[in-house]
Amino acid sequence: MAKKESLRKIKDEVLSLEGFPLCDERRKNNVYPVIGEGSHDADVMFIGEAPGEREAATGRPFCGRAGKILDECLQGIGFKREDAYITNIIKDRPPKNRDPLPEEIEIYAVFLDRQINIIKPKIIATLGRFSSEYILKKFGMEEQIMPISTLHGKPIDTRADYGPIKILPLMHPAVAIYNRKKEKELKEGFSFLKENDCCDL
Ligand code: URA
Repeated sequence: MAKKESLRKIKDEVLSLEGFPLCDERRKNNVYPVIGEGSHDADVMFIGEAPGEREAATGRPFCGRAGKILDECLQGIGFKREDAYITNIIKDRPPKNRDPLPEEIEIYAVFLDRQINIIKPKIIATLGRFSSEYILKKFGMEEQIMPISTLHGKPIDTRADYGPIKILPLMHPAVAIYNRKKEKELKEGFSFLKENDCCDL
């Protein structure tokens, strides 16, 4: 199946999910799930946590305040947003942007795993604690889980089913909304992508 079709199938499946609090809430509030956007042949896949208010209103990942900061981080290294694929673990907005629950991660990560296998990124850049921990566990590196501030910006080599990959854990861009002092550190974490010429890939 072509990538576009496989990704469309994921979207249809998420849209028709029923019986779980977050998708029931989505229907009640008449908002959208956020599946992901960007290049289907991306070498770099960014994985955030969950849609916020603006994302659920538009169906697009990282288009609110945290998205603006992500865009600044990408611009800082000359990386075009449209060259990446951007998604989240959780596809429906948790009420009041609360942290995702383990059972919610379990429900939605099945879709994320399929997205990874379709896009086949060479670098998986995880934004924040939840996606970093999920991806490290998925690739059998549970023992590498540490506070995100320790992992931030340090790539880890591993293998996916389709070949060697690097995981780049990063702090969540929203950290700079609440603490402007973290902005410099956040942006520095993205520099690995620049050093590795991902900007021209
Ligand atoms: N925060 C996330 O983790 N993902 C989004 O799409 C927006 C904000």
